[in-house]
Amino acid sequence: MQDLKKFRQCLSKFATGVTVVTCSNERGDCFGITANSFSSVSLEPPLVLWNIAKVSNSLQEFLQTKHFGINILTAQQKKESQTFAKSEHNIFNGIDYSVNEHNIPLLNNTLAHLICRTHAIHECGDHYIIVGEVTAYQSSDAQPLLFFDGSYQAIQ
Ligand SMILES: Cc1cc2nc3c(=O)[nH]c(=O)nc-3n(C[C@H](O)[C@H](O)[C@H](O)COP(=O)(O)O)c2cc1C
Repeated sequence: MQDLKKFRQCLSKFATGVTVVTCSNERGDCFGITANSFSSVSLEPPLVLWNIAKVSNSLQEFLQTKHFGINILTAQQKKESQTFAKSEHNIFNGIDYSVNEHNIPLLNNTLAHLICRTHAIHECGDHYIIVGEVTAYQSSDAQPLLFFDGSYQAIQ
């Protein structure tokens, strides 16, 4: 690929929602990363996927975890999206969240969340594709946070 900037620009023309994918490790440390690569895959069995960059500081945690959460953000959660797009320690400080029975941190007041058991991991270019089997989910009627052309948007 000659011109990465142009390629990224082309990909940014695909409007998406915004998620924060979360997990914890054996010590109970929590990890979260903003991701718009989320997609549904299969209804039976219920499978979804997202992609994580190989350069992510949280890569090993997401490759090793048996369970993770997909938090779909509302139009009011731009701040959360910005927070989890940063490389920071104690990233959950100041975040409104609860921990479920699998020790997955789940953001409160999201548009939806899906609890996943890691189903498959595929190495793919500079990312890994992580496929999860959905074991529980919940949704609300709030408005979604959208990402398009490199910036946050809301439904007009
Ligand atoms: C709207 C948006 C969507 C993103 N989607 C992804 C994604 O799907 N996969 C990914 O690895 N990084 C994605 N990122 C970048 C990560 O959020 C960011 O690089 C990461 O949180 C940096 O911290 P880390 O290195 O500690 O993981 C996205 C960022 C934004 C703002």
